[in-house]
Amino acid sequence: MDFKEKLKQYQELINREVEKHIETKKCPEEMLNRSMEYSLMAGGKRIRPILVIATYQIFKEDIQECMPFAVAIEMVHNFSLIHDDLPGIDNDDFRHGKPTNHKQFNEATAILAGDGLLNNAYKVISKSLENSKKDELTKKIKVFQEFSNAVNKMIIGEFVDTEVEGQQISEETLEYIHKNKTGALLTLCVRMGAILSEASQEDLDRLTSYAEKIGLAFQIKDDILSEEGDEKVLGKPVGNDKILEKCTYVSKYGLEGAKEKLDELTKEAIEELKTYNEKAGFLIELAKYIKERNK
Ligand code: IPE
Ligand code: IPE
Ligand code: MG
Ligand code: MG
Repeated sequence: MDFKEKLKQYQELINREVEKHIETKKCPEEMLNRSMEYSLMAGGKRIRPILVIATYQIFKEDIQECMPFAVAIEMVHNFSLIHDDLPGIDNDDFRHGKPTNHKQFNEATAILAGDGLLNNAYKVISKSLENSKKDELTKKIKVFQEFSNAVNKMIIGEFVDTEVEGQQISEETLEYIHKNKTGALLTLCVRMGAILSEASQEDLDRLTSYAEKIGLAFQIKDDILSEEGDEKVLGKPVGNDKILEKCTYVSKYGLEGAKEKLDELTKEAIEELKTYNEKAGFLIELAKYIKERNK
């Protein structure tokens, strides 16, 4: 199966899995539930849960035990997007080609939908812990701790990103923001897949290095798309980083400089996986996709 087909198959699998966690009953908070559903099913690429599953599959085939973690990270990701788009943060009106959550509903609903998604992520994980065999608990508790640490890093990254708008910042601060706001969750995904599939420490280290590189590459590409993407394909505004005077890889190093950095990181990430041969074929193609994507 070629990469595009496999990607689609993974996306469909995640869509089905995420849908199971959507509440549709009639109740006073029905709009809140619809708001969470709106963002969860808006057409995201599902890169994070796919990273969990594809990493797990380097070592083990039966993916059932990693599915709750895959769903939980997609919930957290969507919480981060809803809040990122709010007027107090990036003030964006469009995402996935549709009005952002607070534009479709209202600000209060969007804030609370984000809160709900974050909390539901932990609910899904705690349910999976409750249903686990005793001998699986140690690794799952480790994953749970890494999960909450990475979410914290994302929040820290978002805070610093917002705080330094309009300022010239150092290379170190820029990397700090990108690694926290975006890299931490992507790295977490790969590490969750590896830890759950009981990969060796050596494998975990190698995969972590791959993940850190694609994590930074992912945000650099996001910066590039914010400069020269096609708004129709991207589904979110182009040029907003400039309006908000964000310091990005593009504003700091220019488009060419950002592309060089992206190229370098992608090559290094792929290099880390060569030892797994075709077992890591999908993750290698995913690194290329992150570099070449246009949405
Ligand atoms: C967008 O992430 C936000 C960043 C961290 C750059 P994605 O591009 O993975 O978002 P969707 O879910 O696919 O829209
Ligand atoms: C988003 O970063 C990072 C998180 C949501 C954690 P950006 O603000 O750069 O991403 P987009 O361009 O809005 O998707
Ligand atoms: Mg932002
Ligand atoms: Mg944003």
